[in-house]
Amino acid sequence: MPHAITLIPGDGIGPEVADATVRAVEATGVSVEWERVDAGQKAELETGKVLPEAVFTSLERTRVGLKGPIATPIAKGHSSVNVALRKRLDLYVNFRPVEMLPGLKTRFQDLPIDLVIFRENTEDLYSGIEHEVVPDVVESLKVITKTASMRIARAAFEYSRRMDRHKVVAVHKANIMKMSDGLFLRCCREVAAQFPEIEYGELIVDNACMQLVMRPETFDVLVLPNLYGDIVSDLTAGLVGGLGIVPGANLGESTAVFEAVHGTAPDIAGQGKANPTALMQSAVLLLAHLDEREASQRLHRAIRAVYAEGKTLTGDVGGSASTEAFTDAVIARL
Ligand code: NAI
Repeated sequence: MPHAITLIPGDGIGPEVADATVRAVEATGVSVEWERVDAGQKAELETGKVLPEAVFTSLERTRVGLKGPIATPIAKGHSSVNVALRKRLDLYVNFRPVEMLPGLKTRFQDLPIDLVIFRENTEDLYSGIEHEVVPDVVESLKVITKTASMRIARAAFEYSRRMDRHKVVAVHKANIMKMSDGLFLRCCREVAAQFPEIEYGELIVDNACMQLVMRPETFDVLVLPNLYGDIVSDLTAGLVGGLGIVPGANLGESTAVFEAVHGTAPDIAGQGKANPTALMQSAVLLLAHLDEREASQRLHRAIRAVYAEGKTLTGDVGGSASTEAFTDAVIARL
């Protein structure tokens, strides 16, 4: 039986990196039936809706998706399709592993960086509850609940136990937001007490950013509320070579949607320059999720081998290869 996977190519470089990733997944030999559905600008043009119901119908059936980035207008327009998808499907874990690729020249290339981010994915300032109190005065509500904080903390600790990770650090700003981040922190402490074999630490978010740049190799697993998780994810991507390479997964109880950390990269869209590594690495996670472990490992090794060789890399990581040439190199390794 082929695996049914919902494919949402997305906007900007989304279709380019999605095509590349589909080719790489198919080259592993795993049998997949892709259910292609559009969300974002293409969907809006065709249906008048940025997030058509067909996306949910498909994901409710397949329970697993591969998704390209979707644009969100800045300071106007519709609210984020990405946030809406995560909320409606209750994909409460945003899982982002950050590891150094062999041979890649970065500022931190000699450090063994291997850390994992658990970003809460459904609330915080992403609740989108904003209003103008009086002209020129706007309030935006930061919503933190015990339920969401407990389950993201549990996900981080359970993963650490399963994967033999040693330390979880909760990132917060509870010195200032004593109630909201205070609640998040209390939940992390409560869960940490149930995992005595795993070291637990806490860092205020500004200090965490500094420590991540000064001593990135000392970090193992980080658990963060939504907004800090978003920002710190891009920071950690920068430690290992940029947004072109870091994968991600949005995980719920019954559904999982795999997508890169990066956005639509409008500056390079349509030029065949995008680095598909991040979405391919997301597909590595997806294949493992489907229990296609051998294919997952082979794809992971093939990507790493292309980096180790260093001859067919895209422009963002110092090469001059096209999206297609990089993909061909990965497939040749497979
Ligand atoms: P971005 O991630 O699209 O781009 C930031 C920089 O990284 C750009 O210079 C871009 O060229 C580069 N970059 C990103 N991915 C790359 C790749 N695969 N290969 C080579 N270079 C790459 O961030 P930006 O410009 O802040 O956001 C653009 C749009 O993307 C916005 O509308 C934003 O809302 C959306 N976005 C969507 C996300 C999602 O769907 N999950 C996540 C982040 C942003």
